[in-house]
Amino acid sequence: MSKGNIAEKKPAVIELAAGTYYWCSCGDSKGQPFCDGAHKGTEFRPQKLVVEQPTKMALCNCKQTGSAPTCDGSHCDL
Ligand code: FES
Repeated sequence: MSKGNIAEKKPAVIELAAGTYYWCSCGDSKGQPFCDGAHKGTEFRPQKLVVEQPTKMALCNCKQTGSAPTCDGSHCDL
């Protein structure tokens, strides 16, 4: 599967409450880093993220990460 479009060349570092989230893999969501349905009609699908307890995470916004949905530093090479 190909990589999504670059939404931003830095991760979204955010506090997440416990719950279920859907990370945007296509890069076209207007609500980065989460899916807003913009992937419809493409090969991309959102990636489910289940958070058990409140936590701070760095979610990939460049969509080139090898450890989706989290940042692996790939944006540094763009
Ligand atoms: S909008 Fe990008 S995966 Fe859904």
